[in-house]
Amino acid sequence: MSSRRTRGAAAVAALCTLASLQLAPPAYAAPGAPGHPRYSAGAPGLGDPYFPDQGNGGYDVRHYDIAFRYDPATRRMDATSTITAVATQDLDRFDLDFRGPDISSLKVGEHPASFTRTGQELVVTPRPKLKTGDTFTVQVAYAGTPPVITDPDGSIEGWVPTDDGAFVPGEPQGAPSWFPANDHPTDKATFTFHATVPEGITAVGNGRLVSQKTSGGWTTFLWDSSEPMATYLATVTLGNFTVDRSTTPSGIPVYTAVDPRLVTQSAAAVAKIPDIVEYFSTIFGPYPFGSTGAIIDRAPDVGYALESQTKPIFSSAPGVGTMAHELAHQWYGDSVSLTKWSDIWLNEGFATYASWLWTEHSGGTTAQATFNSGSNYGRAATSSFWQTVTTDPGPVDMFGNVPYNRGAMTLHALRGKIGDAAFFRLVKEWATDHRYGNTDTAAFITHAERVSGMNLTSFFNTWLHQKGKPTTW
Ligand code: TRP
Ligand code: ZN
Repeated sequence: MSSRRTRGAAAVAALCTLASLQLAPPAYAAPGAPGHPRYSAGAPGLGDPYFPDQGNGGYDVRHYDIAFRYDPATRRMDATSTITAVATQDLDRFDLDFRGPDISSLKVGEHPASFTRTGQELVVTPRPKLKTGDTFTVQVAYAGTPPVITDPDGSIEGWVPTDDGAFVPGEPQGAPSWFPANDHPTDKATFTFHATVPEGITAVGNGRLVSQKTSGGWTTFLWDSSEPMATYLATVTLGNFTVDRSTTPSGIPVYTAVDPRLVTQSAAAVAKIPDIVEYFSTIFGPYPFGSTGAIIDRAPDVGYALESQTKPIFSSAPGVGTMAHELAHQWYGDSVSLTKWSDIWLNEGFATYASWLWTEHSGGTTAQATFNSGSNYGRAATSSFWQTVTTDPGPVDMFGNVPYNRGAMTLHALRGKIGDAAFFRLVKEWATDHRYGNTDTAAFITHAERVSGMNLTSFFNTWLHQKGKPTTW
């Protein structure tokens, strides 16, 4: 900061001298040079092939601090969210993604900023303008009922009211329902949540419970999620919950919150959490986060589970296989994340294959038998299942069978091709090398070729890039 001021002063002094000599301004004083910012608007979207408006250009979010009071009886939220970000270009305008209720005030640093809203874009005009490298805060106060978001496949996400609270999944585009965000998996950040709910309701967020304080009939839960997290993995799910705490054999704290109506049905899956995390740690490398657990709620209109970071959320009582799937995502999806949504098989194929491995490990069907079954390789060659390309299922089928099942089959076939030693080294290194990062299919192929020492071009073309039921590979 002080060196920038010095450089700026030097540039001004140089300009004064030049002006007095009546010379043209020197090249080093061009806009954009230090002390001569070239302001422009940050991009309104990152151009993801499936969700082009998601995310924004011009800054990198470091932290979200999300504070709200929510009353399930009225469905009203009163929130103040503060984003801390670093400008990556000189900005006279930038966007956030926000689909939430009416904004009553917006400040950039200490200064009220003007803003407009169109669709999911919240367009902010910061004054003073922001320079490359500036760390700045955006504080947004808003109140009302956060919307339920409908996905291209018709499923719902975002802030979903339940009969006793709210169920809050965010993949792929639900996060901006309840907080302003740079909503793309490539911009990870740390989070703190201050959730105030009527006494008796439990609010469960990602990470560690720092404090829980009740006064005047309201309880405030402070949750701290201190490892980098993609926005779609954020949740504060609330309702009546039976809370249980334990630790895994290696000492990772486990926090589970289960709707009392589902405790019996989900007991088997909940009891297995420590063993599943322990088993995956042996094959995928150390568990990437400081805590684990699960949130099991009754949200019948949602109908799917989500790998929310440190605590997957389930909209009904899960079986052990689904629990294993969501816990495997903590490595593949949450810690190692996508760069673009079309690579969703890297999340879903890995989580699905991991659950096959868990099933075999716990004495059930072998991974080979699961591969062979009628939901997998046993499907007829004429089935429409084989007509979707694994690396480009499209936004409507990104959570369809192909990224899950053909993705998992791809990994099992790869294991057969390169052998167990190379395969298990590969999946462990994949988790370690890209821990907390973002990667893609091309990097996976390169990695597999390096670890195995084999040319796998035609293997991956067959399994990932082409339609049709593979016959030889
Ligand atoms: N990623 C989730 C899982 O497999 C599933 C999921 C997230 C989903 N969002 C969705 C499924 C939207 C259907 C529609 O664990
Ligand atoms: Zn999944």
